[in-house]
Amino acid sequence: MRKFKTVIIGMGRMGRTRYDAMMRHGGFEITGICDNDAQRLVLESAGRYEDWKSCIDREQPEVVVVCAVNAVIPQVVCYALERGCHVFAEKPPGRCLEDALGMREAFRKCGGQVLKFGFNHRYHYAVIEAKSLIDSGFLGEVVAARGVYGKAGNLERQEWRNDISIAGGGILLDQGIHMLDLLRYFVGDFTVVEGFTDNLVWKEAQGEDTAFVTLKTDNGKVATMHSSAIQWKHKFDLDITCTNGYIALNGLLTSTQSYGEERIAYYKKDLEVKSGKLGNPTEYNMCFDADRSWDFEIEEFYDAVTCMRPVINGTVDDAVAVMELIERVYGNSHI
Ligand SMILES: NC(=O)c1ccc[n+]([C@@H]2O[C@H](COP(=O)([O-])OP(=O)(O)OC[C@H]3O[C@@H](n4cnc5c(N)ncnc54)[C@H](O)[C@@H]3O)[C@@H](O)[C@H]2O)c1
Repeated sequence: MRKFKTVIIGMGRMGRTRYDAMMRHGGFEITGICDNDAQRLVLESAGRYEDWKSCIDREQPEVVVVCAVNAVIPQVVCYALERGCHVFAEKPPGRCLEDALGMREAFRKCGGQVLKFGFNHRYHYAVIEAKSLIDSGFLGEVVAARGVYGKAGNLERQEWRNDISIAGGGILLDQGIHMLDLLRYFVGDFTVVEGFTDNLVWKEAQGEDTAFVTLKTDNGKVATMHSSAIQWKHKFDLDITCTNGYIALNGLLTSTQSYGEERIAYYKKDLEVKSGKLGNPTEYNMCFDADRSWDFEIEEFYDAVTCMRPVINGTVDDAVAVMELIERVYGNSHI
């Protein structure tokens, strides 16, 4: 297996997660790691840097994996593309639409390298099942979807997510972005965007704790989303209504296990009441007890770098499209 010389910029939680996934994969040789907090540079097998430019300039990697905070992501992505590197970058694609557009510009100017963003939820088993169920046509066509994604936020000063100059936004940009990406994935490109954000509990927070969004495609499909940092008990729910049935995703397997079991249930429309009761069709269930999302995602990136197949999920166009939705919601909001 060809191994690509790789550096990781940002060695916090996601840097370690991506490092572990690349090690399990085997196609990446991590020659350098970088974090401006030296205490995070604990890997001794790689060159250690506190400055990301020096890391890229000295290591001359083929691949740069960007897991630093939101404000730093666009700078590193553009610099790495200009230097001919393939790039895997975390979501969100910067703090605002302008950041995402800047990365798309750098990608268009570069020499045909791969750029992929970490819209990781597409690789969860329940999401993969839902996608193949929809693509099979078994339940007809998707007409509507409703997503709820919430966590218990905090006001901790040392948390960069609570500093708007670094994070760029609140819960919508941090977590809601995953749900928006899934809504686009299942329903299509949205052209009508309504919504607002607010601080319902964390009044002194710089970023919003709540976002409600309503979306519509050109061909009349609709979706709604509630993104919350005041959910108190972590929650992930996505309902998808099709012309001949319905899919419900509940829970999401994560390392903390706080979003519950990952389940998909689907129902076929039963107006002849074969199941015996109207509105209570036979239910089919699957429940997953493993999260291979990080592995599947890095596998797709590796395959794209080796030209085995193009980036399918987390393209720069996905990144720009979802940032456009967020920008439009922020444009409508009270804060
Ligand atoms: N794909 C996903 O599902 C997912 C999940 C969580 C976080 N994320 C994203 O990953 C990124 C990192 O999040 P995290 O949870 O790992 O946060 P974290 O705080 O654990 O790690 C961020 C690291 O970046 C470092 N850093 C900050 N500025 C830097 C700089 N100039 N140069 C080098 N390193 C720098 C910090 O010191 C820290 O170690 C964020 O953009 C976040 O939104 C993605």
